[in-house]
Amino acid sequence: MAAGSTPPSPSSAGVTGGAAGGWSDRFEQGLHPAIERFHASFGFDITLLQEDLDGSVAHARMLGRCGVITEPEADRLIEGLELIRREAAAGEFQPTIEAEDVHFAVERRLIELLGPLGKKLHTGRSRNDQVGTDLRLWLRRRIDEIEPALLRFERALLAQAEAHADTLIPGYTHLQRAQPICLAHHLLAYIEMAERDRARLADVRRRVDICPLGAAALAGTPVPIDRRQTAESLGFASLYANSLDAGSDRDFAVEFMAAASLVLVHLSRLSEEVILWASEEFGFVSLTDRCATGSSLMPQKKNPDVPELVRGKSGRVFGHLMGLLTMIKGLPLAYNKDFQEDKEALFDGVRTCLDCLEAMAILFEEGLEFRPERLERAVESDFSNATDVADYLVARGVPFREAYQLVGGLVKGCLKEGILLRDLPLERWQQLHAAFEADIHAAIAPRQVVRARRSEGGTGFEQVRQQLDLARRRLGEGSPLTS
Ligand code: ARG
Repeated sequence: MAAGSTPPSPSSAGVTGGAAGGWSDRFEQGLHPAIERFHASFGFDITLLQEDLDGSVAHARMLGRCGVITEPEADRLIEGLELIRREAAAGEFQPTIEAEDVHFAVERRLIELLGPLGKKLHTGRSRNDQVGTDLRLWLRRRIDEIEPALLRFERALLAQAEAHADTLIPGYTHLQRAQPICLAHHLLAYIEMAERDRARLADVRRRVDICPLGAAALAGTPVPIDRRQTAESLGFASLYANSLDAGSDRDFAVEFMAAASLVLVHLSRLSEEVILWASEEFGFVSLTDRCATGSSLMPQKKNPDVPELVRGKSGRVFGHLMGLLTMIKGLPLAYNKDFQEDKEALFDGVRTCLDCLEAMAILFEEGLEFRPERLERAVESDFSNATDVADYLVARGVPFREAYQLVGGLVKGCLKEGILLRDLPLERWQQLHAAFEADIHAAIAPRQVVRARRSEGGTGFEQVRQQLDLARRRLGEGSPLTS
């Protein structure tokens, strides 16, 4: 401040009371209004309010215990912070854009409430370690919400799988009929994917659960703080070993978004299947009125909006992953303002993930019904038992490739005649190969074809029952991945 100039009045002063409003006395002019708007993160980082208050309460308590401030001062700071929490709950905490971000907004209000004592809160920390702490606390909570959302979705799949342990569905590769499978087996495949998602999130959580507080701006602080105390009172499992890394690590955000992207990949693939299944052409499921919408023009239509939206929304999460990677890749150590861009990505990524999981859970709980009669007809009316004819010959000593060629020729002939394998009389089979006997018809009936796939992890009914048992145990209360 120039010698002789009057200090700014407390009301016009920013957090630190500098001449230009928000900054130290080094600044003489205020921000250009457009730059002020450009700069401000308050519009979105108010999402972090609870975590910012939690972090500040822990910091104030630690400052008191370490003798940096007195214990009564710490108590008053904490009372002030809790008052702000109550004001926010009552809708009475409404900072303006000049606050810049949630951290300054809270500090500014604290100074309004407590006067000069409020100015002691920021001792021994910087907004850089503060925002990193808030973000990790926030994301840890959200992961703890996504986990049960995944479980609910998996349980909805499991309930359908259990109801259809005996229902068959055509299995596809290249979207061409391949072999009949058990419908429960198909649904259990998505439970496997979701179980990997849960495991991945639990793993990501371990790297979210590291405390950067006390790294200060970048290099630590001469203030005699106790980082372990704040980390512990905020429930972090450990703390960053290097202050530069602490202030500039956003790997956890990338890891989360990658894990969330895979959740959305899985939901999107399942959505695509439901959309196909609900079509007239497949007709494997009908949509109930709970999750389907009509057309404004065509009265006969029932549209699968829920899976379509999930499939569509997956793109946003992949976009956030790419955005985060690109935002981070060129940054020198340590904090750079670019990091402010991590928030909207994380907020939207978490929201999208939770919304899509909930919508898909509801879709499988009450939004669709499988149509066993249509499924039955589908598996009865194709050549998806052709492999089993070859396997029949293999079991009777014919080399697989030879059997494969024979059956290929047989299918060609049937296609020409417009008949199915099951329509061939025994003489025709025996003309093809002497190894065929009267049991060939039973061996290629779809239910037998499925039953015969007894290899571990296969679609045989017995194997699927075992997989259902396993899934039931994994998805039971207090599932091991959460502990
Ligand atoms: N709003 C900022 C963010 O989201 C807080 C940290 C600002 N730190 C700084 N040195 N400008 O990253």
